[in-house]
Amino acid sequence: MRTAKLGELEVARIGLGAMGMSHGYTGAGSDDAESIRTIHRALELGVTLIDTAEIYGPYVNEELVGKALKGRRDQVVLATKFGLVAHDGRGPWTLDSSPGNIRTAVEGSLTRLGTDHIDLYYQHRIDPNTPIEDTMGALASLVKDGKIRYIGLSEVWIDTIRRAHAVHPVTALQSEYSLWTRDQEPLLPVLRELGIGLVAYSPLGHGFLTGALRTPADIEALDDSDFRKNNPRFTGENFQRNLRLADEVQAVADQVDATPAQVALAWLLTRGDDIVPIPGTKRVSRVQENTAADTVELTSDQLAALDALTPAEGDHHTDEQMAMIER
Ligand SMILES: NC(=O)c1ccc[n+]([C@@H]2O[C@H](COP(=O)([O-])OP(=O)(O)OC[C@H]3O[C@@H](n4cnc5c(N)ncnc54)[C@H](OP(=O)(O)O)[C@@H]3O)[C@@H](O)[C@H]2O)c1
Repeated sequence: MRTAKLGELEVARIGLGAMGMSHGYTGAGSDDAESIRTIHRALELGVTLIDTAEIYGPYVNEELVGKALKGRRDQVVLATKFGLVAHDGRGPWTLDSSPGNIRTAVEGSLTRLGTDHIDLYYQHRIDPNTPIEDTMGALASLVKDGKIRYIGLSEVWIDTIRRAHAVHPVTALQSEYSLWTRDQEPLLPVLRELGIGLVAYSPLGHGFLTGALRTPADIEALDDSDFRKNNPRFTGENFQRNLRLADEVQAVADQVDATPAQVALAWLLTRGDDIVPIPGTKRVSRVQENTAADTVELTSDQLAALDALTPAEGDHHTDEQMAMIER
């Protein structure tokens, strides 16, 4: 697989998101053996960047990834995240990027992942109660101690990025980026000015762009814990209207003899060699399909058609989740 640069860090240009193996999606946690086979297959296919977070589960996704990487640690660029779990008794889904919390969080992640260092350690969401300078200072000392190699941020905007980067180089920003979520494109010039890469999460639009969900009955059939059941793009009239988008991606896929998932990823790969999508799957067959997007070529007409896709109806997260995102 071709490679991409996230700051100084070189990775294969398609990564693997491990979240859905344990968290957030229908079937999460139901077949760990297949999830582990999926990670192993990804490595065989040349994937290097594996993405997890302590909040996924919480904790169990890091444990699963750690189990899968036993004996293969040196083949991967291992990325995890802190800042959505407070370790002082307030628990999961608490914004806490205070230096003390980071020092506790990193030890837990290292243990669960079965490693002595994390390659890319992200703040998961900005903490309104901790200045980013304090967070970066704590992360910089973890770099000095060899516990983490590179620092990332997730879902923050220009001012935070500049302030953080002034304390210690930021290697990657992780944000939602896909054919139907392009609202952070204004950030790209700033990231390029500072030499920061973009890791595109939910590059398949939480699976919607693949055409896998076509009817209200498909949504109804999702597990109650599947966040898409309440996601504004997957509910009510928005869902019906957004089907047009999936059709438009399918039309390009038919032209290039690829799948819609591959088209969604191939389009992202044309956006720059500093952009790395991390499609999430817990199935061997899909990791094979998704990584094969590396060889899908789109013509200028097809790229123009994808650039002109019908805009999505509905925000990409619930109001509660949007409140934690900087724009
Ligand atoms: N920084 C953040 O705040 C943040 C937020 C969300 C996600 N992430 C990271 O980004 C990664 C990817 O995002 P995501 O998993 O939310 O969304 P995604 O990659 O856009 O889509 C994942 C969904 O698509 C399905 N899928 C995958 N490949 C497919 C294919 N070829 N055909 C049909 N369906 C397919 C998966 O189901 P199966 O698993 O059943 O294949 C799953 O339901 C996550 O795993 C996580 O590591 C980060």
